[in-house]
Amino acid sequence: MAGIRHFLTFQDYSRDEILTLLKRSHELKHSISGKGMSRPLEGRTIGMIFEKPSTRTRVSFEVGIYQLGGRSIFLSPRDIQIGRGEPIRDTARVLSRYVDALVIRCYGHEVLEEFVHWGSVPIINGLSDLHHPCQILADLLTLQEAGLDICSMNACWIGDGNNMANSWIDAAEKLGFSLKLACPEGYDPQVSFNSGKISLTRDPVVAVKGANAVSTDVWASMGQEEEAAVRQHAFRGYQVNDELLRHAAGIVYVLHCLPAHRGEEITDEVMESDRSLVWDQAENRLHVQKAILEMLFENLP
Ligand code: CP
Ligand code: NVA
Repeated sequence: MAGIRHFLTFQDYSRDEILTLLKRSHELKHSISGKGMSRPLEGRTIGMIFEKPSTRTRVSFEVGIYQLGGRSIFLSPRDIQIGRGEPIRDTARVLSRYVDALVIRCYGHEVLEEFVHWGSVPIINGLSDLHHPCQILADLLTLQEAGLDICSMNACWIGDGNNMANSWIDAAEKLGFSLKLACPEGYDPQVSFNSGKISLTRDPVVAVKGANAVSTDVWASMGQEEEAAVRQHAFRGYQVNDELLRHAAGIVYVLHCLPAHRGEEITDEVMESDRSLVWDQAENRLHVQKAILEMLFENLP
């Protein structure tokens, strides 16, 4: 269908579009009932296919869809024929005839691309092994609210070069902020970067130097449970703790997309400290996803 857009990564979005999404997220967050409320999903149904567990993504999307006037249908692969081998190309074409958009959480990112190719409704990435753009959009909103200029901040990533790290890189490429990543050898991010303001080191202290925002994530992502022991060994020294944060800027905010493994990638003290923005991050998932949904339906009949 002409005019259809998807939300798979930041790569398809301009700097201005990302900033507009953030501005709208802020408006939606602060709009009180009746004023500035929009119901672009009135009469629309959004399907949600989740191959992996989820607390925040599932609940914030379901609530956001409801608040925008639509309804959601949660589809576990266990319950639909995909789980018994029905091809994605068939599922995508059939579901496109019922629902108005699909939120998909999957392992291989190519699953999302296949849905885009064969389907005819907007596809939203609710996390793939490669990217988690909804989360990074929420993180950017959170840092803006904390008072940072997100286009000129010094951000830092400590730990696994995973889906979160990849989406942080995409965001830094688009917005132009400085991003220093510290990942152990063998665990580098998968997306490449061109911006001279993005760098990769093995040393967390180097990465955190002068940072205003320090973000981390679990050492073993969903689907990597069997590698947990090996990863615990590889990531020793990559914990976000008070000692590491002493090297950051005077005012530094700490982010974690959750769920967290306290005592591994982050300490309990840091999670519960004033520097931690994790609860605002989680809340902001709701607001940014409403802005994304609104934008995707803006020009659709
Ligand atoms: N941060 C995040 O995506 O959380 P869930 O896995 O609970 O959705
Ligand atoms: N990197 C983590 C993020 C969870 C929200 C995972 O993919 O499991």
